[in-house]
Amino acid sequence: MADTAQATGAYTASADFIAKAHIDAAGYERMYAASVADPDAFWREEGQRIDWIKDYATVKNSTFEYGKVSIKWFEDGTLNVSANCIDRHMATRANQTAIIWEPDDPKVPALHISYAQLLEQTCRMANVLKAHGVQKGDRVVLYLPMIPEAAYAMLACARIGAIHSVVFGGFSPDALANRINDSEAKVVITADFAPRGGKKTALKSNTDQALLHCKDSVKCLVVKHTGDQTHWTEGRDFDVKAEMAAAKPYCAYTEVGAEDPLFILYTSGSTGKPKGVVHTSGGYLVYASMTHKYTFDYHDGDVFWCTADVGWVTGHSYIVYGPLANGATTIMFEGVPTYPDAGRFWEVCAKHKVTQFYTAPTAIRSLMGMGTEWVEKHDLSSLRLLGTVGEPINPEAWNWYNVNVGKGRCPIVDTFWQTETGGHLITPLPGAIPQKPGSATKPFFGIKPVVLDPANAALQTAVEADGVLCITDSWPGMMRTLWGDHARFEEAYFSQYRGYYFTGDGCRRDGDGYYWITGRVDDVINVSGHRMGTAEVESALVAHAQVAEAAVVGYPHDIKGQGIYAYVTLMRGVEPTEALRKELEAWVRTEIGPIAKPDLIQWAPGLPKTRSGKIMRRILRKIAENDFGALGDTSTLADPSVVDDLIANRMNKA
Ligand code: WTA
Repeated sequence: MADTAQATGAYTASADFIAKAHIDAAGYERMYAASVADPDAFWREEGQRIDWIKDYATVKNSTFEYGKVSIKWFEDGTLNVSANCIDRHMATRANQTAIIWEPDDPKVPALHISYAQLLEQTCRMANVLKAHGVQKGDRVVLYLPMIPEAAYAMLACARIGAIHSVVFGGFSPDALANRINDSEAKVVITADFAPRGGKKTALKSNTDQALLHCKDSVKCLVVKHTGDQTHWTEGRDFDVKAEMAAAKPYCAYTEVGAEDPLFILYTSGSTGKPKGVVHTSGGYLVYASMTHKYTFDYHDGDVFWCTADVGWVTGHSYIVYGPLANGATTIMFEGVPTYPDAGRFWEVCAKHKVTQFYTAPTAIRSLMGMGTEWVEKHDLSSLRLLGTVGEPINPEAWNWYNVNVGKGRCPIVDTFWQTETGGHLITPLPGAIPQKPGSATKPFFGIKPVVLDPANAALQTAVEADGVLCITDSWPGMMRTLWGDHARFEEAYFSQYRGYYFTGDGCRRDGDGYYWITGRVDDVINVSGHRMGTAEVESALVAHAQVAEAAVVGYPHDIKGQGIYAYVTLMRGVEPTEALRKELEAWVRTEIGPIAKPDLIQWAPGLPKTRSGKIMRRILRKIAENDFGALGDTSTLADPSVVDDLIANRMNKA
């Protein structure tokens, strides 16, 4: 029997689950072996899970060699992504629900959007975009609530070969402007307001502010969602629902190359401004649909719910593209887990008879604190599988999820992946791989992970290993480049460990060959499952007139996973007051968005620096973690006494 089936201390799915699963233990071993032994043959066959206009002859063509990194899959094939997600299901599923839209306010009825309706709305939106001059290859920025128009807009872009870039509705006008400008978008699609948890975010007014910093030619299509009054600029702003209603209900899809970009998604890196991760059409769709089917063991008739926002990659791959490519029924939820009460997730699961439920550990941890009565109120018998994504899940949260939500009968898939990877990299396949709480378990098909020693890049050949996680070879769903900056792409991902893709994560591999992700080893932190570059928060802080210098690190946070800890040095003569602390918190909220607000701000008369002026972040991390007994060597510091002051005034005293 395969090793995985014997993994020590692991949870195995029920015999009934395994009997119905797409992939069992033997199947996983066989397919995984085939996928890494002969990727060309394996993916030549798997590529056929989507429809091609012109079939591909070439499958894989890639190299990770630094200086020459190039990644292409199915490069001579052509297709249309929206046709794959909609049109090809019309013969068999026209009246099946494609998207269930669950609004923020539970008193507002949910919408059940069939594949036929999805086709019509997507076509209408595509015709509106065309009428505004959007053509193949043009960029369209989406800054929208979690409403059906977000899916229509993504698919409409895909339909005409335009490239979408979704910006999370929680980002500030500045962040939005940067993304519109970096992608040189022609059009931004937004809404009047985004209701969430009973409050409303003024998306249109944010967009108005952003557009002050963009080219005058950028058009603004506004979804009148709440119907509240907004400012209106004649000639620049357009009522997209009215235009859709007047547009033709059909739009032919455009043939695009497999390597034509489908979307750009900005994400945080360890340095500088956010990176525009580029995903292309063919390989991405093959990978999103395959991982959706196998990781979640999706079967016809299931109701799949991923609670992410479409502003993140999880929403792209597992609300829109993966499920729709598979002809699934996917839920799009506008609200939050705790509105109107802490039972909302479970109420929605019961109401729509959800079969697979996929969320972030941070949501589980916060609901855990509110008691099990919120879960017990609702009938969760439809659930067959649970999933998590975005950060490591601690065993307490895993057990709570397993016992209270899954009632001990639903496998839990802890899916490790990234914006850059397009889909799951390391994840249990529920019928095949027994789960250990806190481990993402084993690689998906075609993924060859390795553990390297961060000190000398040595490959760890023993089964049990500790180090950084790299991937040996490309897979169809991975990003191809950073928008407009291929050199930065190579530098960020392929320069540290030559010949490998570097994930930025640390990991441990146990004696069963299971991977345990231990978190980022670079200057990226993970706050409530959202990626945040410490450099971004620092540059927001130093943009404040009274701040001279700032250093930001993560520290362990019970609910959020990591919290944001900022050391701030004020300009000479500025008094550190509570009022200023509040002002800086508000400042970061408006500069980047609420998710970047520092949890703790410590006034730092000085920062620990080497004689060459480099901030010693290792020391700052230790102090923030309240673990200053082990600061290591501080002898290279220019002024070792600053450390004593920082320790004495630390904000995270246990
Ligand atoms: C972290 C989200 C542990 C990791 C899809 C990664 C995880 C970063 C897991 C990517 C997991 C994601 N276990 N850590 N199951 N999933 N991460 O780009 O640090 O928003 O590098 O993509 O989240 O975050 P991103």
